[in-house]
Amino acid sequence: MKKYVLLIIMAFMLSVFNLKAQSLDQFFPEEKLITTGMYYYPEHWDEKQWERDIKRIADMGYEFVHLAEFAWFKMEPVEGNFDFTWLDNVVALCTENNLKIVMCTPSATTPAWMRINYPETFRMDGNYIRGENGTRGLNSLTNPKYREFVKIIVTKLAGRYGQNANVIGWQIDNEPPALEDYSPSSQEAFRIWLKNKYKSIDALNMTWGTAFWSQRFNSFDEVIIPNTSLVGLWGNNPHALLDFKRYLADTQAEFLDFQAEILREHILDNQFITTNYTAKCTGSDPRRTEKLDFATYTAYPNYGSDNIGEIGFRLGDSKVILFASEYYKSVGGATGVMEMQPGPVNWGGYNPLLLPGTVHMWLYHSFAAGGKLACSYRFRQINYSSEQYHSGIMEPDGVTPSPGGEDYMQFMKEINELRKHYKSDQKMPDELANKSTAILWNLENYWTIDRQKLTYQWDTWNYPIDFLEITKSLGAPTDVISEETDFSKYKFLIAPAYDLVDSDLINKWRDYVSNGGHLILTCRTATKNRDARIWEGDWAAPISELIGATVESKDMLSNNKNGDVVMKNSHYNWNNWAELLNPDTDTEVLAVHNNQFYKGKAAVVQNKIGKGTVTYIGVSTDNLKLEKDILKDIYSASGASIMDYPQGVYVYWRDGFYIAVNYSSDTYSMNISESANIVVGERELIPAGVLVWTE
Ligand code: GAL
Repeated sequence: MKKYVLLIIMAFMLSVFNLKAQSLDQFFPEEKLITTGMYYYPEHWDEKQWERDIKRIADMGYEFVHLAEFAWFKMEPVEGNFDFTWLDNVVALCTENNLKIVMCTPSATTPAWMRINYPETFRMDGNYIRGENGTRGLNSLTNPKYREFVKIIVTKLAGRYGQNANVIGWQIDNEPPALEDYSPSSQEAFRIWLKNKYKSIDALNMTWGTAFWSQRFNSFDEVIIPNTSLVGLWGNNPHALLDFKRYLADTQAEFLDFQAEILREHILDNQFITTNYTAKCTGSDPRRTEKLDFATYTAYPNYGSDNIGEIGFRLGDSKVILFASEYYKSVGGATGVMEMQPGPVNWGGYNPLLLPGTVHMWLYHSFAAGGKLACSYRFRQINYSSEQYHSGIMEPDGVTPSPGGEDYMQFMKEINELRKHYKSDQKMPDELANKSTAILWNLENYWTIDRQKLTYQWDTWNYPIDFLEITKSLGAPTDVISEETDFSKYKFLIAPAYDLVDSDLINKWRDYVSNGGHLILTCRTATKNRDARIWEGDWAAPISELIGATVESKDMLSNNKNGDVVMKNSHYNWNNWAELLNPDTDTEVLAVHNNQFYKGKAAVVQNKIGKGTVTYIGVSTDNLKLEKDILKDIYSASGASIMDYPQGVYVYWRDGFYIAVNYSSDTYSMNISESANIVVGERELIPAGVLVWTE
């Protein structure tokens, strides 16, 4: 009987999974590879120019237009008076020009009447000061009045355009940020969230450890949102802060789902629902939504940082698309870039010209990683207001393509060429599949570490992404996955600084390894339970058996001191973080500390379990050389062939195409076979260069 029920459940799960896969294919036919679009703001321009602009967008080769995410003031200029005729005209113009539409809900910017009549619809910052209209994302997501207005405007929009076959999909809101909100409605919602989670105030007191510094609550009514602006960061309760983060992420996800549900009631089945998260999104947790088809990201890689080599500052931060294009796939199985920087922005530390070809390279990077859509922010550089210095695809004259515009046109022309080479059902070559890798990512780990870094040198958000850089330099296809994923799909699984664990996860790791997987854990893993409590035991007690060692203690140095670790006679410097390991007798020691008072202690160990291995890297080196050398050894020992691409050169495979991009300041000679068929670019991969080939 039990078996029978299990089979039914499995069949159901499979059919759900298939449905999802099918529907994604329906939104993005495989043979089109990628679809390209453009942000256009008719509300910013003289109506007389709309026809010219839309026609131009089509002539340049774009396939869809992205509309209306900030246009609430024009849809409902006065409370309760709606006007969509202007949007009807733009939609009609798009249709005449053979352009599809991504329609957006305008909840991120509310009109002035809402501020005047309903100030309570705005969020409050940590000093209990209200936001107001004039910029984006300042409304209180938990405020019932705001919700009411959102429901009305979304219903109207969905009713008006949900049956329009030319609308391919919907974007909800804009870069949903899960911002901190200390307003009365948020305080109330937080208390309800806590009641649902803890049921009794005693349970909350226990988990939050309110015995410390007289924090105890007698009832849920006494609870307030922990406020770092008033109490300070280090003085705040880490358990309460973690719950606040969870609450904010849940609230943001629920707000998106709330809108998605309204849309779904009115729109055609083949219109997708998505939103556009920032590339490195540290507040919102996209995996918490349930009603969106997939998630997209916004990419602004160049914001005035040095990056790789002499001209890296013109090429942008190579980690932006690298990470986002993998991470957001873990939500609905596909992703794309909804906003792509068109040229210099106005908000970087400084805003340099881009090296010609850079936007083209970014577009290819996002495409290479599997991107299903690429859309550019924005068509025309605006002559007025806050973003007047932000470049567009068109110069401020409205008719001359910017260098980014030229890059975009080239990309679209080439994609049309690539479509001709498309062959269905391509299988990833074995050489790549043999090194399939996953990075395990859970925002909650980084929320806790970021609150309690312990050393100013710890780079919470880049630390896990550095491992992605390493695996890409070895040429390994690498996904960024959640704990729910089937680990057995991957030969190598890396969990960097995976702070919060429970026994289910540890058992899942053990099973993965017993069955032949290679698990790589790093320092700062398993230091706490999911409530952010450290163990009444060793530093990383629950993984001791798994890694075949205990973690005795941790050390940190200032950035002008040198820690020295030795592996196979090579020396590696560290000063950020290191742990002192006590290996079991059967555990292999891969690297040892070579200075400080604990010279001779193990720093990296490897344990064999069943058919696989667990490697624990208990040190964070300055240049990641040790981490890279260890990974190289693990891959090689398991028979995977490895590459050694320089930093910033990324090589991908998708749909039968190999694609290489170069963010470094040096030309790199791609060593591809003589018989390779080059479709775009040249073997000599110049900075900002792209090479596409088939074998
Ligand atoms: C994005 C935002 C856009 C635009 C852009 C400018 O973060 O979603 O609306 O403001 O930045 O770079």
